[in-house]
Amino acid sequence: MKLIEGPQGPRVIVDGRETILLCSNDYLGLANDPCVKAAAVEAIKKYGFGSGASRLVSGNMEPHEALEEKIKNFKGTEAALVFNSGYHANLGCISALAGRSTEVFSDRLNHASIVDACILSRAAIKRYPNRNMDFLESLLKKSKAKSKLIVTDGVFSMDGSIAPLDDMACLLDKYGAMLFLDDAHATGVLGKGGKGTLEHFGIVHPSIIQMGTLGKAIGAFGAFVASSKELIDLLVSKARPFVYTTALPPSVCAAASKAIDIIGQNPDLIELLRDNTRYFKNGLAGQGLNTLGSATHIIPIVTGDAKKTMEMSATLLEKGVFIQGIRPPTVPENTSRLRVSITAVHSKEDLDSAIFAIKETVGEN
Ligand SMILES: Cc1ncc(COP(=O)(O)O)c(C=O)c1O
Repeated sequence: MKLIEGPQGPRVIVDGRETILLCSNDYLGLANDPCVKAAAVEAIKKYGFGSGASRLVSGNMEPHEALEEKIKNFKGTEAALVFNSGYHANLGCISALAGRSTEVFSDRLNHASIVDACILSRAAIKRYPNRNMDFLESLLKKSKAKSKLIVTDGVFSMDGSIAPLDDMACLLDKYGAMLFLDDAHATGVLGKGGKGTLEHFGIVHPSIIQMGTLGKAIGAFGAFVASSKELIDLLVSKARPFVYTTALPPSVCAAASKAIDIIGQNPDLIELLRDNTRYFKNGLAGQGLNTLGSATHIIPIVTGDAKKTMEMSATLLEKGVFIQGIRPPTVPENTSRLRVSITAVHSKEDLDSAIFAIKETVGEN
C-alpha cells in the first residue's frame, strides 16, 4: 500500500514526493472540498463523533435520516436507506432479495462484493458474459425459478464500460425479473444531473433497485439503496449488514449530504469531468493502446502480464504519476492493466504530464 500524506486531490504526496494522482475514485474532487469538510466539522460539534449503536437500537440520528431524504430526492425514488459501505449494501440488499428459490443472473465482470453477496444469498447463480444481452435472455428464457434477479454494475469498475440498461430494461417485464443496479461508479457522474446510469439512458422502471456509494464521486464514505418504500422497509429488518452494525458517524452523513447539494448546485462539475476525460482520451489516441473502448472517466490501459504491469506502475510513480496496476484476481488472467481514473479537478497541465509519462512508459514496453 502506498502512503498518501495530506488529503486526496489531483496531486498528492506519495513517499515524500508530489505526484499526479490518477487512481482515485474521488471523481469530482469533493473529498477535500471546504464546504464538505465544514459540514463534517459542524456535525461533530453538534452530534459528537460516534453514533454509539446500530440504527435499529439507538444509533439513528438526525444526519442519517436527513441524508436518506436527500438521496431519495436526488434519485427520484420513494425511499432510500444508508449502508456503511457499498460492500455492506450489496451484501445486505442482494441477500435480502434473493433466497434459495431465486435465480440470480450476474454479469461476469460484476464487482467482488456482488459476487460475495450472491454466494451469501444461497440463490442459484447464473453468470453471463460481460454485457451480453442475448446470453442473458437465453438464461432467462430457460429459467423456471419463482423469482429472478438480474444484478449488474452500471459502470464496470475496471473497464469503464456502461451496462446496456436500455436493452436490459426490456427483459424485465418480458421475463418477470427484478434488476439490482450497482451504480457505485455512475453516481455523481453519469446523466445530466449525475443521477447515474438510469438517468444516462432516460429509464424509469419500478423493478429497478439502485445502489450507489458515497465514497467515490460523493467524496465521503458509505453507500445507499434507493427504491420503493416497501423494499426499504424490508431491508430495515432483513438486511443483516444493515441491522447488525454500528451506524455511520453522523459527521460522515452530514458531509455526504453537503456533497449531494454541491453536485445539484454545480452541474459544471460533471461537465469538467467529461471535458477532462475527453482531453485525456484524445491525448492518448493514436498510440495503439488498448483501453477496451472505455466509455467513461475510468480508462484501463491493458498491459497483459501482471509483473510487467506492476513494474510500469512503479516506473510511472518515479516519473511523478501515480496509476495503480490492477491484476488477477481483480481482473481476468492476462488482462492486467493500469487503471486510470480522471477527475474534474485535474488541470490540463496535469493531464498533459500524465499523457507524456504514459506514452513513454507503456510505449517502451
Ligand atoms: C462496483 C462497485 N460496487 C461496490 C463497491 C464497494 O463500495 P465501497 O467501497 O463503498 O464498499 C465498489 C468499490 O469499492 C465498486 O467498485
